[in-house]
Amino acid sequence: MEKIVIEGGHRLNGSVRISGAKNAALPILIATLVAPGEHRITNVPELADISSTLSLLGRIGCPSLVSGPTVRIDTSRIAFSEAPYDVVRKMRASVLVLGPLLARHGECKVSLPGGCAIGVRPIDQHLKGLEALGCEFTLEGGYVYGRTDGLKGAEIQLDFPTVTGTENILSAAVLAEGTTVIHNAAREPEVVDLCNFLNSLGAKISGAGTSKLVIEGVSRLSPATRPYPILPDRIETGTYLCAAAACGGDLTVTNTDPELMSSVLLKLKETGCTIETGVDWIRIYRNGARLKAFKVRTEPHPGFPTDMQAQLSTLASLAEGTSSITETIFENRFMHMAELTRMGADVEISGNTATIRGVESLTGAAVMASDLRASAALVIAGLAGEGLTEVLRIYHLDRGYEKLVSKLHGVGAHIARVSDDIIDRAELQEAVNASTARAQAS
Ligand code: EPZ
Repeated sequence: MEKIVIEGGHRLNGSVRISGAKNAALPILIATLVAPGEHRITNVPELADISSTLSLLGRIGCPSLVSGPTVRIDTSRIAFSEAPYDVVRKMRASVLVLGPLLARHGECKVSLPGGCAIGVRPIDQHLKGLEALGCEFTLEGGYVYGRTDGLKGAEIQLDFPTVTGTENILSAAVLAEGTTVIHNAAREPEVVDLCNFLNSLGAKISGAGTSKLVIEGVSRLSPATRPYPILPDRIETGTYLCAAAACGGDLTVTNTDPELMSSVLLKLKETGCTIETGVDWIRIYRNGARLKAFKVRTEPHPGFPTDMQAQLSTLASLAEGTSSITETIFENRFMHMAELTRMGADVEISGNTATIRGVESLTGAAVMASDLRASAALVIAGLAGEGLTEVLRIYHLDRGYEKLVSKLHGVGAHIARVSDDIIDRAELQEAVNASTARAQAS
């Protein structure tokens, strides 16, 4: 196993190139199942979750070829319509095969995802919507067995604007007979990207980005003639902006889109950072004064994204004054707070609200990542903290952040990825010095 070691206290200056969005790439790669043939998708990030998705598609009978950020997938045949437990337990987004497999193949066997660190995360809304389209499900032995004699368009009201629930239903409705309306649909940019991708295959979806999606079913879809570019990752973008806000410095993130994340940019401005934007770049810098405390409440898009809550918690722990962070999407998404307190943060949790009294500085410590975004928050804390920080269980990070160490080296971070059996502090410091020197020399 490996860990990340960071020598904190260095300002971040320069530019970071943002990768394609994990949460757009996953549903889009899986949605290729609805259209037999060879698909080409570009700006795909190189992440553990992407590899898991491609290996799942391979097991279904759809081989793929990755060359840099471009992925070719051949969905001409479906040999095996199952997403087994050993795949789904590692990546719950595998449940996204439900809609496409039922639409294309008429049956599927998918392991129930089970809970994860941040919550129970049931899929009742996914199943409710697909049942409305004419699917039948039975649950047995931790698996959901689905079948249909043919999908029919329906009017569906989601109890909650679930992101992958909307995506699952959408990916089936495109091949249903008749028109489907999804009310209270998720409005996230990644859902819009999926709608655009499906329309590039010949689907007829309107209302993308609104809470009412109208899908006119078609009898057949085929691969687009041009490669489809995945939209930029707004959460990766926000994470690097938070790192610069925490450490100070002058950072520009490129190959991104400020339009995807106005709630995050406005919140960063509230903390006292200066933000400048262009069509595909965002610059953040701070004039040396301490960050200002703030209040934030996570909401479905276009509200403040839950996937940025942990990163903002780190900013709050350093801000002047008392901040309040309320998490309304997941029931257990404050696990990073305990780790931040090990670094000196002053946090009090009551229900789904954390009250954070800012401190002058955090001190480096060994901390444990619990989920993808919590691990990013701990990296930011290490970058801004004094001394050495070790972030363990970084397999969480590898799921959603492409080339994180190298991107941070590029803007002046003193950071290294080492085996987690190195515990001697002098050795850890030496590893950080050597890794940073190599990066600066290259
Ligand atoms: C997607 O998860 C993202 N994952 C998550 O990103 C993100 O945090 C989340 O949306 C919210 O924006 C992907 O897109 C692959 P939800 P998803 O269904 O679809 C409840 C990351 O860090 N719910 O919108 O699973 C559920 O329990 C990940 O990149 C039901 O009750 O989220 C949760 O409390 C983490 N029944 C809430 O809705 C259902 O059938 C939000 O879930 C579905 C969801």
